[in-house]
Amino acid sequence: MKPVKVGVLGLGTVGGGTVNVLKRNATEIARRAGREITITRASVKDLNKQRICETQGIILTTDPMDIINDPEIDIVVELIGGDGLIKDLLLKAIDNGKHVVTANKSLIALHGNEIFAKACEKGVIVAFEAAVAGGIPIIKAIREGLSGNQIEWLAGIINGTGNFILTEMRDKGREFSDVLAEAQALGYAEADPTFDVEGIDAAHKLTILASIAFGIPLQYDKVYIEGIAGITRLDVEYANKLGYRIKHLGIARKMPNGIELRVHPTLIPKRRLIANVNGVMNAIVIKGDAVGPSLYYGAGAGAEPTASAVVADLIDVARALTSDPENRVPHLAFQADSLVDIPVLPADQFKTAYYLRLNAEDKPGTLAGVTRILADHHISIEGIIQREPLDDAPAIPIIMLTEVTTEHEMNAAIEKIEALKTVNGKVNRIRLETLR
Ligand code: HSE
Repeated sequence: MKPVKVGVLGLGTVGGGTVNVLKRNATEIARRAGREITITRASVKDLNKQRICETQGIILTTDPMDIINDPEIDIVVELIGGDGLIKDLLLKAIDNGKHVVTANKSLIALHGNEIFAKACEKGVIVAFEAAVAGGIPIIKAIREGLSGNQIEWLAGIINGTGNFILTEMRDKGREFSDVLAEAQALGYAEADPTFDVEGIDAAHKLTILASIAFGIPLQYDKVYIEGIAGITRLDVEYANKLGYRIKHLGIARKMPNGIELRVHPTLIPKRRLIANVNGVMNAIVIKGDAVGPSLYYGAGAGAEPTASAVVADLIDVARALTSDPENRVPHLAFQADSLVDIPVLPADQFKTAYYLRLNAEDKPGTLAGVTRILADHHISIEGIIQREPLDDAPAIPIIMLTEVTTEHEMNAAIEKIEALKTVNGKVNRIRLETLR
């Protein structure tokens, strides 16, 4: 059979890694795909830049349209990143009958519904395994491996940069800003690192996971997003003393009245496997009704781990080239006409437990005032620590863990606690999940 011809948009870290993996493993890949997969063209910003891959045999151009309009190209691989212009490029490629492989999470999260509709109309595949959790085959696991299950919830460490920062803060007592600079230097952070620390990157990935887990349209704008910039070394230390780790999680959970979609720092029990996922590594726990909980762990970024996912998609597309478009695995796991509009719940309807840290005056009745407010809001206290006052500091830190309540009740209680004369400043609240 004649080789599948591939055009790559972008020969940076992931593009270079993809060229290297395809070359190194060419024989195995052809044995798996049933034919050779060859990169014949690539578009780059700068023709003279040094690259991590050889470009012999690849025709380089600075204009992606040269690839998109080349009738010889079967598959366009998009590794430039960003949305807007890229969306137009890919819609044009689809219009031209090209299959598309992309690692672009923001593109899929924000414009996937439109892109997949166009792809269905044109009978082409848009594959995006590399968009979530780099080298972990999580899209395939949910879309195919777990397709017999009703997914109840999933929770993931899906941003390596954020996990690296929290790990370093805990292990080495380092400051947030210092660790972020190192993550950028290591090349894991997004072009705009606020995407990592503010949770936007994780929310893009969660949007995709939730859609294929529950058969709902992609709805990035409904994700509740909170970053890690507010986490202090004190919180990391107190959480540790209480038997928890703070992780930046993306959580999607099906509740009787809708779906919770949330990205925020979360206390999780130290004994959970996912609590021990450190550095830039990613991991996702998925709870299916038949399989129970299952855990997927691996590198969430980097040249070859991400290339591993891109090449797997290329092999899948190569295998499907001769199949009837009606009988392919649907883009979003469920048949396009079977997606359902289950409501995504507003944040104040979330149900979760909490860690609260507040600074209070060291005098009789202070703690009673706080616990009375929590009781009035039907919030049960699971544990409490009151620290020694630091030298002649006017206030003492009080740390509390609560049982599960609604975000609505907790918001109301926190407002009243902050208004107490005996409490100084804001209450620092971090959600807590047992992930049972
Ligand atoms: N900035 C992302 C991360 C890269 O840190 O996980 C992979 O999507």
